[in-house]
Amino acid sequence: MRWQQLPPVGNKVLLSSSSSDLSKIRRLFSPKEIRFYQSGTAALASAMMIAKQYADKLQPEVLIPAYACPDLVSAANYAGLTPVLHDFEKNTPWYDINSIENKINNKTVAIVAVNFLGINERLPELSQLARKHNITLIEDSAQAFPTTHISSAWIGDLAITSFGRGKPISMLGGGLLIVSNEKYHSFVSEQTFSYGNESQLLSKIKTRIFNQILNPVLYNLIASLPFLDIGETQYKELETIENMSLFIREHLFENISAYQKRDQTIVRDIYQFAFSQLDQKGIIDLPVKCQQPNNLYLRYPILVTDPNDRKDLFQELDRKGLGCSLMYKKSLPLISGVEQQFSEQQNNPVADCFANQLITLPIHPSVTTENAKTIVSIIQKYIKKA
Ligand SMILES: Cc1ncc(COP(=O)(O)O)c(C=O)c1O
Repeated sequence: MRWQQLPPVGNKVLLSSSSSDLSKIRRLFSPKEIRFYQSGTAALASAMMIAKQYADKLQPEVLIPAYACPDLVSAANYAGLTPVLHDFEKNTPWYDINSIENKINNKTVAIVAVNFLGINERLPELSQLARKHNITLIEDSAQAFPTTHISSAWIGDLAITSFGRGKPISMLGGGLLIVSNEKYHSFVSEQTFSYGNESQLLSKIKTRIFNQILNPVLYNLIASLPFLDIGETQYKELETIENMSLFIREHLFENISAYQKRDQTIVRDIYQFAFSQLDQKGIIDLPVKCQQPNNLYLRYPILVTDPNDRKDLFQELDRKGLGCSLMYKKSLPLISGVEQQFSEQQNNPVADCFANQLITLPIHPSVTTENAKTIVSIIQKYIKKA
């Protein structure tokens, strides 16, 4: 019987100071223009709608990775774009860049480049490709946020980030559209949206409850309630696009400032040192493999090359309540709610393999050195046994 469980992600929402003055946030991104939405999905749908208007093509399509958050599909469907899946490059969370041009045709209006948990896509190469075909590069940075040089961090023509539950700056909602390419300004200013109708008081209560649930004993209790399906990946349709709520706007700046002081070095070093000893033994340290070892990670991703070993290892980590996760578990054509839509796009062997090998390790501020050492020792013991 497990009495407590670390959440796989989890940063408390700060509610100490409030200011509805957005100029401080705009200054952080200046000279880039930003727009505020109710969620990352809404910001992404808005970016896709802009790309569609910009390209003005019949039966428009958007390229998205075959293994990704189903919210990318929700955004594409809302924007009226057909999502076209592209497979991964082996042992990375990246597009197979050598064959991506085969998927670009006269209907393609945009490529979505996803930052996976902190690992950047190869944005310079994708940007070059987008230029060549005169299509929009949309950078989906829902899972990552820069700690310094915010204004120069975005390379895509349009970029989005999210302030939803479990994101780097977790506010239980909110998303931003960041416009880097001036050619898109006129399309952005044409868009207007209304505000949602959740009261400030309700938002405050929800946030306080959320902050409590991050406690490992409470989280364990909540996570074990089967009807909540915590940790399950589900397709959810986007019904409407709204402005970011006043409650989130008021607390955003203080939460961004707190995030910028975050330091993961100790836990990251424990993981990276341990995995450097296990190289060639069935564990792939993805941040190291992708040559981005020093980024800030939302969850620390590794691959266990034998899917059967992954299953047993994850069972053991999960039994101990150490905050590890399998993320989406499946590539997009296998996610419930979109199987039909992708029935003719099921051939993504590398993304399927990635889904069967991935384990994420927790690296949020509540993860102690002790937690990280325990995780590493279980992996070491396990790999020796396997
Ligand atoms: C890569 C990616 N894009 C977009 C989204 C959507 O963000 P939100 O939850 O704020 O709608 C998510 C959410 O998990 C995501 O992981």
